[in-house]
Amino acid sequence: MDEITGIKNLLEKSGYSQKAIDYYLHRINVGGIDEPSARFAYTGPCGDTMEIFLRIESDIIKNAKFQATGCAGSFASGSALTKMIKGKTPEEAEKIDREDVLNHLGGIPKAKIHCAYLAVRTLRKAIEKYKENK
Ligand code: FES
Repeated sequence: MDEITGIKNLLEKSGYSQKAIDYYLHRINVGGIDEPSARFAYTGPCGDTMEIFLRIESDIIKNAKFQATGCAGSFASGSALTKMIKGKTPEEAEKIDREDVLNHLGGIPKAKIHCAYLAVRTLRKAIEKYKENK
């Protein structure tokens, strides 16, 4: 068994959906944005940090990326959330909650649900900052 197959099996056994595993392994939307319209780094109670970068033009989120020091759950959630908000207004994006992220992913371990909240919280803070500086 190669290394990736081993990781996939472990994640599957822990309760990650195929989509969550793919997002995590393919690092969807992981990275930064040059001169973003807003960026915010937030550290959750677990001690992990996520930073979200937004490019907003004409009040539409054109691009969204993130970096994280967290677990597979945080990476899957960051990927899901940054995918979900593209094409939305900041007001629409800040209404997305933890349940929406979990539904989009289709399954992550119960113990990792707070990691989805880390992504939501970071996004809301980034949007708050965008609105302050508008
Ligand atoms: Fe800290 Fe998942 S983000 S445990």
